[in-house]
Amino acid sequence: MTTRRHVVLAAGAVAGAAALTTGCGGDDSPAPSGTAQRSSTSQPSHEPTGTPTRTGDGQELAGTSQIPVGGGKVFPGPKVVVTQPTAGEFKAFSAVCTHQGCLVDKVADGTIDCPCHGSRFRVADGSVARGPATRPLPPEQITVTQDTILLAR
Ligand code: FES
Repeated sequence: MTTRRHVVLAAGAVAGAAALTTGCGGDDSPAPSGTAQRSSTSQPSHEPTGTPTRTGDGQELAGTSQIPVGGGKVFPGPKVVVTQPTAGEFKAFSAVCTHQGCLVDKVADGTIDCPCHGSRFRVADGSVARGPATRPLPPEQITVTQDTILLAR
């Protein structure tokens, strides 16, 4: 009898621990940076623009016509965002958010946006338009030859 009671108690303790673990995981699950990393490793070649062609002058990122005026485009592979603040003027910045290192994921309404905590950076100079980030996106060197944008790394 004593043995049976012990078994029942032990099983109850395990079930309780499992319930606690599940409850914790459910409450804490939104971890944007972890989620982004997991999806990038499970789908290595999903992003067509993430694997630029390398030429003698650098990595070919895009044609100039692919970068909207007043907006831009994120290249997750080389972790670069290219913008065109005004027609014919191209800029490039690191796509790694200066807040906690997430990759920015879109360019909209004149800003480069980070999905993790909502920071926004201006397309013209990478400066902070909205926190929590406090530092601008570092500039990247690009070369524009005819209709092609090359990343000079
Ligand atoms: Fe970009 Fe926090 S990592 S806003």
